Amino acid sequence: LAPSVLSADMANLKGELDKIAGADYVHFDVMDGHFTGNLTFGVDILKAVKRSTDVPVDAHLMVSNPDESVDWYADAGADMITVHYEASTHLHRTLTHLQQRGVKAGVVLNPATPVQVLDHVWDKLDMVLLMSVNPGFGGQSFLTEMLPKIRRTREIVERSGADIWIQVDGGVSESTIDQCLDAGATVFVYNYDRFDANTLAVHSGSVITSSTKSCTRLSARLTSPIARACSAATSSDAIDGSDQSVTHGSRCTPA
Ligand code: DX5
Ligand code: ZN
Repeated sequence: LAPSVLSADMANLKGELDKIAGADYVHFDVMDGHFTGNLTFGVDILKAVKRSTDVPVDAHLMVSNPDESVDWYADAGADMITVHYEASTHLHRTLTHLQQRGVKAGVVLNPATPVQVLDHVWDKLDMVLLMSVNPGFGGQSFLTEMLPKIRRTREIVERSGADIWIQVDGGVSESTIDQCLDAGATVFVYNYDRFDANTLAVHSGSVITSSTKSCTRLSARLTSPIARACSAATSSDAIDGSDQSVTHGSRCTPA
C-alpha cells in the first residue's frame, strides 16, 4: 500500500506520516501546473517528508519535461521516481540515468496510453504505474475500463520474467482494490480518507486482506506485502519467496 501525501493534512505533515508508518511506500504526487492544471508540491516538501518518515518515498512526477528534473527528486532522497510516458521526450535516456544512479525507476501511463509504448524499455523498469483516473486531482472515480489494461500489463510482465511491480493510482478503494488485485496489480495508491490509518500502521497489507474474499496468487518473484498478505491468508500451499512455481492467475481462498 502506498498512501498518497496529496490526501494528507499538510498542516500536520509529520503527524500524518506517523499514521502511515506501516505503509510500504509514501506516494508523493508532484504536479507542476503544466502537465496537470493542478499544482502541488516539489523538492522542499519531499525533503521534509524524508526527514519525517522512514517509509520509502515514491515520487510520481506529473510534470512536463521530467527528463530535466528527475535529479532534483533523486537528490532530495526519492527512493523511487516515476515519470509520465506522455511528458518524457527522452524516456530511454532518463530511465537509464536513474538506473545508473541506483534510484528505482517507473513509467506512468495515462488511461489513454497503451502499455505497448513500453516495449523497448522493459529492462529499465522497476515499476509500471497505471493511472486509473486522468491525473490532476485526488478523489476521482476509478475507471473500470483500466482493468483489462492491468491484466495485459501483468501478462507482459509475466512473459518477460522480470521483477516489475504494477502500481494502480486513482480511485483505489475497498470496493475496487479486489478487482485490481485480481487483474494482477501489486502496489496500490491509497487515499488517506479511505482507510483506518491506525489499522494500516499495525497491519500493512492486511487491510486489503480483511476486505478481500479471495486473493490472487501473485508470482513468487513478487515480494510485495500484497503477496505476503495472500500467503498469510492461505492455509495451505502458501506463497513464499521459495515457491518458484507459483504463477499469477490461479486463485486461492483465504482459510
Ligand atoms: C491523481 C494522483 C493520485 C491521487 C489519488 O492525479 O496521481 O495519486 O492522490 O487519489 P485518489 O485515490 O483519491 O484517486
Ligand atoms: Zn499519483
